[in-house]
Amino acid sequence: PSEIPRSNARAEFVVVANRLPVDLERSSDGTQRWTQSPGGLVSALEPFLRSRKGAWVGWPGVPDVDVEEFSDDGLVLHPVSLTSAEVADYYEGFSNATLWPLYHDVVARPVFDRGWWESYVRVNRRFAEASAAVAGEGATVWVQDYQLQLVPTMLRDLRPDLRIGFFLHIPFPPVELFMQLPWRAEIVRGLIGADLVGFHRPGGAQNFLWLARQLIGLEPSRGSVGVRSRPGMVQVGDRTVRVGAFPISIDAAGLDTLSRSKEVQERAAQVRHELGDPKTVLLGVDRLDYTKGIDLRLQAFHELLQEGRVKPDDVTFIQLATPSRERVEHYQQMRSEIEQMVGRINGEFARVGHPAVHYLHQSVNRSELAAFFSAADVMVVTPLRDGMNLVCKEYVACRHDLGGALLLSEFAGAAAELSSAFLVNPHDLDGVKNALEQAITLDPAEGRRRMRALRRQVLTHDVDRWARSFLEALGTEAATA
Ligand code: ADP
Ligand code: F6P
Repeated sequence: PSEIPRSNARAEFVVVANRLPVDLERSSDGTQRWTQSPGGLVSALEPFLRSRKGAWVGWPGVPDVDVEEFSDDGLVLHPVSLTSAEVADYYEGFSNATLWPLYHDVVARPVFDRGWWESYVRVNRRFAEASAAVAGEGATVWVQDYQLQLVPTMLRDLRPDLRIGFFLHIPFPPVELFMQLPWRAEIVRGLIGADLVGFHRPGGAQNFLWLARQLIGLEPSRGSVGVRSRPGMVQVGDRTVRVGAFPISIDAAGLDTLSRSKEVQERAAQVRHELGDPKTVLLGVDRLDYTKGIDLRLQAFHELLQEGRVKPDDVTFIQLATPSRERVEHYQQMRSEIEQMVGRINGEFARVGHPAVHYLHQSVNRSELAAFFSAADVMVVTPLRDGMNLVCKEYVACRHDLGGALLLSEFAGAAAELSSAFLVNPHDLDGVKNALEQAITLDPAEGRRRMRALRRQVLTHDVDRWARSFLEALGTEAATA
């Protein structure tokens, strides 16, 4: 439709995500600076999109600011403004207190609030309009994640000429849970506007196909969906919508190179030295989120110390936790539980200058993170549910020395690819403790065998392959061998 104002620089390739890849940070003295946005979506997509010189439509991360479109190293960024009320209702409310817990196995109770839903619809429309204004004729628009599930159909109504893809970065829930959502049919109708709807796992795609039949009466194909192959099909009028599974990954080669650098290796040695050169360093790296099972791993470590199965002089735990969604109640509760546990463990087992748990409620930069990965003997990744989990892949990419061991929850999407990890059910505390003890006392030759297998998988299935396989299935990329 002609009433949509078009931006001057019309892009051939547009990513639409709740957040821009950079967040505007305002300090108390009034100064502003841009920092990398948190989370796996940005870690995965940013390097890919930069290499394509595309456009990115997203929120600058703070409420009530109007920022003009700007260019950052060849990438054109189109900020979408949100008011404080919209941040509370659309982002903290519907996205992160309704959809997030619902899609993560209801590990916290989702709140169903009609006002939040209305805000979600309004904000999705704003993103759709912004994308319609930015995209050139016949462009490819790739919509990301659970915050924007209505955008595909809204955008198609505005711009039928576009090729539209949608990818969900979090798990798509079992149908029994999805059916709790009062706006379940609206969400399925929103997604079906895409030409390709992508999930991490075939199960998510299969669930969506079932819902398309049950909730909006479409006739999906019946065969099973494969990984990066055999997508499901749904006929919507004269359009065929594909529904597939595309496990996301990381810039594995980039991290491998970074981790081999002298700077990172020296910093890794320094970290171990600063910790007092313990025999074993355990590491957790997460956004501080109640789905990540940070509390469970601390409890497992605590019990191992209490039972004398690990010695505080020998084993040190580092937990890096990026601040996240700090105004949402469940996040506040989880933070105080974790901080109490850290206090309790250190109260019982620390010596002056030697805490048993080092807890940093901070983000660190990429090379510092690579140094932590290189320094850690056991990477502990225990989510109750996680769409993929990139941290475990990042750890593997940093272990060119074939050192280290990965302890990984079965309920992370990555577990399907990383079968040489120590796989655990995070609900089974004894199982986690046993696996942790096994990983701590791992025979080095067995460790190298496992790490070699993990690296083979991660280095050959990187983010570029993920993006190419999605775009090929969308029909906008030439098929590669
Ligand atoms: P999610 O998308 O739920 O946050 P992922 O594991 O998929 O989880 O992605 C998290 C991303 O954030 C990874 O790239 C990881 O390296 C990064 N990250 C997590 N915690 C920190 C931290 N404390 N400092 C720096 N980066 C972090
Ligand atoms: O991958 C899940 C995800 O929610 C992304 O959509 C998001 O960008 C990231 O985690 C970080 O969360 P938030 O944007 O709410 O800080």
